[in-house]
Amino acid sequence: MKSYNIAVIPGDGTGPEVVREGLKVLNVAAAKYNLKLNFVNYDFGGERYLKTGETLPDSAIEELRKHDSIFLGAIGHPDVKPGVLETGILLKARFALDQYINLRPVKLYPNVETPLKDKGPEHIDFVVIRENTGGIYTGVGGTMQKGTPLEVATQVMLYSRPMVERCMRYAYEFTRKRNRRKLLTLVHKCNVLTYTGDLWVRVHKEMGDKDYPDIKQDYNHVDACTMWFVKSPEFYDVIVTENLFGDIITDLAAMIQGGLGIAAGGNINPEGVSMFEPMGGSAPKYTGKNVINPLAAISAAGMMLETIGEPAAGNAVERAVHDSLASGKIKSLAAGKMGMGTTEVGDFVATFVK
Ligand code: IPM
Ligand code: MN
Repeated sequence: MKSYNIAVIPGDGTGPEVVREGLKVLNVAAAKYNLKLNFVNYDFGGERYLKTGETLPDSAIEELRKHDSIFLGAIGHPDVKPGVLETGILLKARFALDQYINLRPVKLYPNVETPLKDKGPEHIDFVVIRENTGGIYTGVGGTMQKGTPLEVATQVMLYSRPMVERCMRYAYEFTRKRNRRKLLTLVHKCNVLTYTGDLWVRVHKEMGDKDYPDIKQDYNHVDACTMWFVKSPEFYDVIVTENLFGDIITDLAAMIQGGLGIAAGGNINPEGVSMFEPMGGSAPKYTGKNVINPLAAISAAGMMLETIGEPAAGNAVERAVHDSLASGKIKSLAAGKMGMGTTEVGDFVATFVK
């Protein structure tokens, strides 16, 4: 029996509630596919920060490194200044564990309402691969004469060729393995970002021409891409993009797939320890009411199984999410409007894994 050690960080607000349902479905999948999943809980988040001043200490990074994967609920606390937990926990984990890929499947499931008129599941099914540790997020830059009328501030969109290449390699391999339309669209702004955009454009073309003749290449400027997401999402198969642009377009993408209740993501180090999470926040106003939608967390758990090397079990979880929605019994993805509670949705999805 294969055994995996999973670090669980339920986090703040509704995080623990959705994580509980994710673990419920994981346990059912583990039983069916004969896996042993060992979960170790970590209490990082807003509460611990308020008590101890600690976000994610270096010793915790060393512990997380020993696991096969990390399952995260939500980070964010109304009494903590914005930015502290985001940089102290989420970004720290991404950088320290070198999770250089942010994987965001964008899929409209049956019976899920999209704000896009006349679009259905056949139109919205693509994946965004966002570079996750470079660009403006590196924090390279500085200020001068801060607080004076002459203040200067810079924040640099930094990319080295190896950083772009490893992301691009992952994207081409992913597109080939996905085996749908075999189309890899680079999203950037190379008409203005003539250095960093140009680097991405050249790596996309060189690597594609040389090693992936079976994959079609396309390019969109990021502003145009936001238009196409709304007008013709069926245009896309796999998108690869730099960090900040990816951050922005994946929020738009979450909305067209039905909102944060269903949007899951992975912070992936293909050679190391990855971290999977629902995209939604800690939703303080819904906390403890058994009304939050756990589907995104359950999907994230499925992605985790797939990434640790259990694609059959991962697929089964993904299929269970699909089938539970296809049944029409879940009335809406919105918190409090699902027609059942958080735990009931988890139970219901679990029945489709069995
Ligand atoms: C995300 C989030 C983070 C980001 C924040 C919380 C730092 O928006 O995962 O998309 O900007 O990457
Ligand atoms: Mn974001």
